[in-house]
Amino acid sequence: MVTSREVGSFVFIILAVAALKALKDVWNNTPPNWLGSDPCSGWDGIRCTNSRVTSITLASMGLMGQLSGDIQFLTELQTLDLSYNKGLTGPLPSSIGNLKKLTNLILVGCSFSGPIPDTIGSLQQLLILSLNSNSFTGPIPPSIGNLLNLYWLDLADNKLSGTIPVSSGTTPGLDMLVNTKHFHFGNNQLSGGIPSQLFSSKMTLIHVLFESNQLNGIIPLTLGLVQTMEALRLDRNSLSGSVPSNINNLTHVNELFLSNNQLTGPFPNLTGMNYLNYMDLSNNTFDVSVFPPWLPTLESLTTLVMENTRLQGEIPVTLFSLPQLQTIELKNNQLNGTLDAGSSYSSQLQLIDLQNNSIAGFTERAGGFNVELILVGNPVCTGTEGTKTYCIIQQSNSSYSTPSKNCVAATCSSDQISSPNCRCEYPYAGTLFFRAPSFSDLGNSSIYMSLESSLMRSFLSNHLPVDSVSLSNPTKNTDNYFVLSLEIFPSGQDRFNRTGISGIGFVLSNQTFKPPPTFGPFYFIGDAYGIFAGTKKSSNTGIVIGAAVGGSVLALLSLLVGIYAFRQKRRAERADKVNNPFASWDPSKSSGDVPHLKGPISFSFEELKKYANNFSEANSIGSGGYGKVYRGTLPTGSLIAIKRAQHGSMQGGLEFKTEIELLSRVHHKNVVSLVGFCFEHGEQMLVYEYIPNGTLRESLSGRTGIRLDWIRRLRITLGAAKGLQYLHELANPPIIHRDIKSNNILLDERLNAKVADFGLSKLMSDTEKDHITTQVKGTMGYMDPEYYMTQQLTEKSDVYSFGVVMLELITSRQPIEKGKYIVREIRQAMDRTKVLYDLHEILDPAIMATTPRGLEKFVDLAMSCLEESGAKRPTMGEVVKEIENVMQIAGLNPNADSASTSANYEGASKEYSHPYSDQSLFLYSGAFPHAKLEAL
Ligand SMILES: *[C@@H]1O[C@H](CO)[C@@H](O)[C@H](O)[C@H]1NC(C)=O
Ligand SMILES: *[C@@H]1O[C@H](CO)[C@@H](O)[C@H](O)[C@H]1NC(C)=O
Ligand SMILES: *[C@@H]1O[C@H](CO)[C@@H](O)[C@H](O)[C@H]1NC(C)=O
Ligand SMILES: *[C@@H]1O[C@H](CO)[C@@H](O)[C@H](O)[C@H]1NC(C)=O
Ligand SMILES: *[C@@H]1O[C@H](CO)[C@@H](O)[C@H](O)[C@H]1NC(C)=O
Ligand SMILES: *[C@@H]1O[C@H](CO)[C@@H](O)[C@H](O)[C@H]1NC(C)=O
Repeated sequence: MVTSREVGSFVFIILAVAALKALKDVWNNTPPNWLGSDPCSGWDGIRCTNSRVTSITLASMGLMGQLSGDIQFLTELQTLDLSYNKGLTGPLPSSIGNLKKLTNLILVGCSFSGPIPDTIGSLQQLLILSLNSNSFTGPIPPSIGNLLNLYWLDLADNKLSGTIPVSSGTTPGLDMLVNTKHFHFGNNQLSGGIPSQLFSSKMTLIHVLFESNQLNGIIPLTLGLVQTMEALRLDRNSLSGSVPSNINNLTHVNELFLSNNQLTGPFPNLTGMNYLNYMDLSNNTFDVSVFPPWLPTLESLTTLVMENTRLQGEIPVTLFSLPQLQTIELKNNQLNGTLDAGSSYSSQLQLIDLQNNSIAGFTERAGGFNVELILVGNPVCTGTEGTKTYCIIQQSNSSYSTPSKNCVAATCSSDQISSPNCRCEYPYAGTLFFRAPSFSDLGNSSIYMSLESSLMRSFLSNHLPVDSVSLSNPTKNTDNYFVLSLEIFPSGQDRFNRTGISGIGFVLSNQTFKPPPTFGPFYFIGDAYGIFAGTKKSSNTGIVIGAAVGGSVLALLSLLVGIYAFRQKRRAERADKVNNPFASWDPSKSSGDVPHLKGPISFSFEELKKYANNFSEANSIGSGGYGKVYRGTLPTGSLIAIKRAQHGSMQGGLEFKTEIELLSRVHHKNVVSLVGFCFEHGEQMLVYEYIPNGTLRESLSGRTGIRLDWIRRLRITLGAAKGLQYLHELANPPIIHRDIKSNNILLDERLNAKVADFGLSKLMSDTEKDHITTQVKGTMGYMDPEYYMTQQLTEKSDVYSFGVVMLELITSRQPIEKGKYIVREIRQAMDRTKVLYDLHEILDPAIMATTPRGLEKFVDLAMSCLEESGAKRPTMGEVVKEIENVMQIAGLNPNADSASTSANYEGASKEYSHPYSDQSLFLYSGAFPHAKLEAL
């Protein structure tokens, strides 16, 4: 027995599986272990809580395609990280707003485009919203202002335009984000002024990064109210006016970039910024002023950049003794006098660039001056002095590369790289970008060593299989970001698996890794991991093996497991060990004789070759991983469908024989029958009767042109029920079909229903051998929740699926359509006190042409088939009887041949796709609602 609560969660599961299936269908390169019925059974990148998908982390998986709107059905999702998949394109669907539980939405470094949907503002639980390094366009949605829990907002490095939204009246705005610490909006095309309303003393921002936009107007006075500020970048915009004096109140600022604007007025007084490390005010037209006397009091200063700021006068000697000073860049000013760095200049000092000033001399002291000094373009470099080293620009390039650790680098084959521990491995590589570092000396190896050890600590504390990291190629890019290559080497093996890569990617994309504070805010862009890149889209068709061809011992065992469970009502899992009906067969023996059968004919290869016109392409009517299906014509003129296994998907001779013997016992007019087989020339072929009118699903979808009125639907229901009743009650041994669905019900020339693929949907490809006894098989949407929950298979599971097909027959809808599960929809919509149970809206109009008499009883029967508890469902024998009752209500003689009502049906087009094609007979249709579990 299962509880209603479990069934409720089952509905969630099937909708979630269907959603993941939809994602998988549109994406290339999904993890190869996305197979089987249960995404919570260890699928790479998927995490679940209580059988609900709560986390998808697929960083650097090489995913390609669009983000389908079906993501919305993963209603329990908290974390979505698709970072570093350059192949992910197209818009962010607005239905993402339905993921109300999302806390982390991280799409860094993909190729998403189009506007950021306004619905993003409904994700009230969001803590991290990282959409940086994509191609998003349009404005910043004002609704982001509703995300009151937001901690991290990174929209940088896109093509966003328009103004920065602030609230007014009922419209939200970013000024409402009083809990947000990070506004990273750099490298966009934002324009207009920085709204004064954006900042207030309630704000708790620590990083405000607006660099490289088109912002204009003045720096608002309110900025000085955000006392928590640590990094402020307003550089590379068109800001004008004077810097508000209260900026001096931002006493926690470490990095201040106001460069490359049109700022005017007096040079800002920054005496309050006691922790200021990095200051860049270059390329503004401040009032001509003498060297600010208070600059040498900024004790924490590492970097002073004031290129082209109209500075005059002499540089005070005290500046050079600031203890942490690394770089002074004061090019293109009017500094004069004689330069004197004193005798106690900072030991950290690396570079003094004073090109193009008016400096007349340099005081050289005893002991020399061990700093790169550039005085090119100053009077001091005219005449004979021009030969001094400080009058020549040296090419100094800081380089760094993590050295090997007390070992000799290994010589590795092409793709592998010697790790710091001298092992040849496949590293996960990418680039770290530090947007506002507090230092400027890139030649100091201690910064790299501290970064390496903090990276390692972070990976190891997050239980990631990392052996070592390597840093190289440090540079500053045009935005003044500190850029660094990172390689991460695996431990234990020479490569990471997908779990490892997505885990590392997440630690970096989720900002779980915190670099030492001196590095400031960062982001990472991972490269595609080469090992995964070659994976082609796994063909759905290769995964489920169709009837008879390509099964395996285990697959057959699983069929028998089902039968065993049917008889013994025991756990199917145990059954394969006990009383295995095949136990006495010795698979090591040769395949033995041709199977000894009454019915099926043993065809020779030459015969079938002739009947199928040399297996010509023209005769091919379907194909899949197991091989191809051909149409053929027997000398008698009867049409046949030949299923031909391809090499590689063949089963052993013994298994093939066993399978044929099993199939040959099945004879019923409502079950597709086996005509014969071929086991010659290393070929395995099965020959079936040819069913001309395709699948019930195709007719319901209107693709065949066959009009299915109420009467025809009743006859089809009866035929299919009789076929299934035969398998359950008359076949010996009984057969549980396990994959009843409209795609497995075929219609012959008189629209008689024939059940196809009986009992064999359990056959699986070799790749799934391991899971056969534990995984639930079937098709999502049709699957019995009780079976799903308990793994206990009975004939009542087929009855449940049949109930779903009955609902399909009255609605023509697929079991799962647009995130709706037909069973739940009907259950919720039906009102037994009203005519037609008030289902008019849901019923297919085609059955309403005449009054569908008996429909209420039909729905009652379907609902009884869909009882949560299998014990409460009718048997197929009872279902047949009840359909016969309904037919009498509808004024039909249930025993009359269907020909009397359907002989004159509208002919289907000749070119119409063949029922024996993979899609229709043996495999799920490929469309989203038919998510066949094995194919996921
Ligand atoms: C600067 O801060 C001080 C105290 O922190 C406050 O009294 C003063 O009004 C602030 N000045 C401005 C211009 O905001
Ligand atoms: C800078 O501001 C501080 C207080 O904020 C003040 O005491 C000092 O006199 C100012 N210095 C200059 C040169 O304006
Ligand atoms: C100042 O502007 C010049 C010319 O546009 C540019 O080359 C230089 O990099 C800028 N300096 C800084 C520090 O941004
Ligand atoms: C340096 O420039 C300042 C301001 O323009 C001026 O007052 C001073 O006389 C100059 N000093 C020298 C040595 O030229
Ligand atoms: C992936 O690698 C980790 C550590 O190397 C290992 O624990 C895990 O079992 C692997 N996962 C798979 C699916 O192989
Ligand atoms: C991801 O980030 C969130 C928000 O900062 C944090 O709470 C969570 O612990 C992080 N997750 C991991 C696995 O690091």
